[in-house]
Amino acid sequence: MSTKTISAIKGTKDILPEEVRKWQRVEAVTKAHFELYGYREIRTPVFEATELFEKGTGETTDVVTKEMYTFVDKGGRSLTLRPEYTPSVVRSIMDHSLHLKPQPMRYYFIGPMFRFDKPQKGRYRQFHQVDIEVFGEKDPAIDAEIVEMADHLLKRLKVVDTEILVNSVGCRVCRPPYHAKLKQAAEQAKEDLCEDCQRKVDLNPLRIFDCKVDSCRQRAKDFPTITDHLCEECLGHFKAFCGYLDLYGISYEIEPRLVRGLDYYTKTTFEIISSRLGAQDAILGGGRYDDMMKEFGGPDVCGIGFAMGMERFLSVVPDEKTKERFVFIAYMGEAAKKAGLQLAREVRQENLECLIEYREKSLKSQLSRANKLNASWVVIIGEDEVNNDRYQLKDMERGEQEEVAREEMIAKIRQAVKSG
Ligand code: HAM
Repeated sequence: MSTKTISAIKGTKDILPEEVRKWQRVEAVTKAHFELYGYREIRTPVFEATELFEKGTGETTDVVTKEMYTFVDKGGRSLTLRPEYTPSVVRSIMDHSLHLKPQPMRYYFIGPMFRFDKPQKGRYRQFHQVDIEVFGEKDPAIDAEIVEMADHLLKRLKVVDTEILVNSVGCRVCRPPYHAKLKQAAEQAKEDLCEDCQRKVDLNPLRIFDCKVDSCRQRAKDFPTITDHLCEECLGHFKAFCGYLDLYGISYEIEPRLVRGLDYYTKTTFEIISSRLGAQDAILGGGRYDDMMKEFGGPDVCGIGFAMGMERFLSVVPDEKTKERFVFIAYMGEAAKKAGLQLAREVRQENLECLIEYREKSLKSQLSRANKLNASWVVIIGEDEVNNDRYQLKDMERGEQEEVAREEMIAKIRQAVKSG
């Protein structure tokens, strides 16, 4: 048998207890924030039928052509670990006829996603998204509301140095004539494009705008933009969307090449980027996808949403110093150990964190352990304390020690926790 140690898979990472605290704080604030706007959580499976993403995310996207974790299960079915959430929510709505509920429906979700991307700072193979989706609302006011909701969340968590980019990618009416123009321009530039983009010229020239290769980016700067080719309805929608952002006093930049890497978008697209993130600078991205449910063979219900990468989000949320306050019980002898065990139970029943250790140790080493762990209080139990049911309570922050009766001790700790 090989003795080589097994490590975490490239592109995945463990979230250790010190980091988990921040995750929990940010997740809790984020969920509560979405609930303020009427969103409710929806959870769907980690894997789905492969065709869900081929159809939903789009067959010409990088996500589908290069990045999916696809496997055949023991029943011979092709399954894929979700690379994004949007098609799963649409499927779930159709499976459960949720569209029959009053519209608009607002959902949110937090969970792991999987993409076989080239790992680098801010880009992982297993990463986490917080995702929101709204169904059944065509009014551009909702497009602005979700951008405002995202901006408000970033402000609540004191994220600075961000920029909001917005665009419209048109619809079934204005996209085909624009595509033809774009294809023509891309064909003329074909020789200067990377191999991948040369393929995209025929398959879906819009995807050339997703390319990160410098020469392709330079060439794409001269291509016609969809923003200049919107039909009347899309232009009206885009103008109204921007108007509502102005109403909220939100500053934004119109980025005519923001087509986002997924095929389903119609009309509004947007991203929030951070100058603190490096090459992978998008904290979140989203847009409208009015045709997806219909194209899945479901009802004609429009959708809009965004997803935020938790790892990137967390790296721009400032740390907050939180004090963990807990009681450590130190004892001497078997009778004191038993009293300590009972006391630990009582303290925990009072909803206070409490630690007691079982290895035979001197009082000195128990106290030094309490110190190392940063205990807020140490209760010291010896033979006398057991006999009198009175305990030595040491406040580690103040360095004070006093003898107190059991009930008095719990009341004191509770009071100290309350007053911070
Ligand atoms: P996306 O732009 O593919 O959109 O991903 C959204 C966010 O997920 C990105 O802005 C980024 O923060 C994060 N992200 C993506 N890939 C990675 C990765 N490999 N490592 C770390 N973070 C990553 C979507 O997924 C759409 N479903 C958004 C949406 C919802 N559109 C409408 N509704």
